Amino acid sequence: MTNYSTSIANPNQALWEKGDFTQIAAFMRQSGEAIADSIGITPQMKVLDLGSGDGTTAVPVARLGAEVVGIDIARNLVEAGNKRAAAAGLRNLKFQEGDASNLQGVVDNSFDLTLSVFGAMFAPKPFDVAKEMVRVTKPGGRIVMGNWIPNDPTFVSQVLKISSAFTPPPPEGFISPMTWGVESHIIERFGQAGVGKEKISMVKDTYYFASPEKNPTQFIESFETFYGPTMNAVAAAQQNGKGEELHKQLVELALAQNKSKDVGTLIPATFMRVTVSL
Ligand SMILES: C[S@@+](CC[C@H](N)C(=O)[O-])C[C@H]1O[C@@H](n2cnc3c(N)ncnc32)[C@H](O)[C@@H]1O
Repeated sequence: MTNYSTSIANPNQALWEKGDFTQIAAFMRQSGEAIADSIGITPQMKVLDLGSGDGTTAVPVARLGAEVVGIDIARNLVEAGNKRAAAAGLRNLKFQEGDASNLQGVVDNSFDLTLSVFGAMFAPKPFDVAKEMVRVTKPGGRIVMGNWIPNDPTFVSQVLKISSAFTPPPPEGFISPMTWGVESHIIERFGQAGVGKEKISMVKDTYYFASPEKNPTQFIESFETFYGPTMNAVAAAQQNGKGEELHKQLVELALAQNKSKDVGTLIPATFMRVTVSL
């Protein structure tokens, strides 16, 4: 994979280009397909996947016949996505670099469906993100978001909680991505983008991190080695001599939440599924 120089100018980009998110995405393919199957994709539908990563959702959506554009801030993931699309022979799927807070170059009313599964929630300036998603989606079209939920007892929220206990507090004014999992924030953000709350539905749903051969300890090691936010937590913990304690807590969490009956991993995580009808 290409090595990109880390961008001090854009810490959001540097965070997601760190490590190799494709190694985490490998645990997400099953639920990516389930989401694609559940959102009413029809052939030739024009779909934008924001914060698409290497295509966990975009690839199965394209397999269902939609014309898909994946936009992601991480150049290594754009490259990995385009390789996956080529390997799958999907000429109706392309990935490009872009920022969900500012989709410059994307024409108004271009897409029937704007999708973002744990993607746009990580972009800074959430009000701009909502405005951009509304702008590029056709009237009569839909926006579907999957967002993690703060203070939830399931895996992702708990990883965050554990990690934050080992890291310095974020800079003043930082808006947590997890606020995208809170109903009042969702309504306020789309409200400022001109969408009434009667057009927004929010339901809790379950995502699974799954691997038939990798056990929960190996799953946690993948986070520590390849997932930018966890890599930062590990580095901070190690600086304070607490690396082993962080590792122990993360492994305990994964073991406690694992539902697999054999050697592998099957860890559920609750998320907020947001559907906006324009
Ligand atoms: C947790 S990953 C999810 C990736 C993918 N949707 C999936 O389900 O596998 C978050 C993704 O959001 C992307 N991202 C973060 N900030 C972004 C921004 N400002 N604009 C576009 N993408 C962004 C990251 O690069 C990363 O690919």
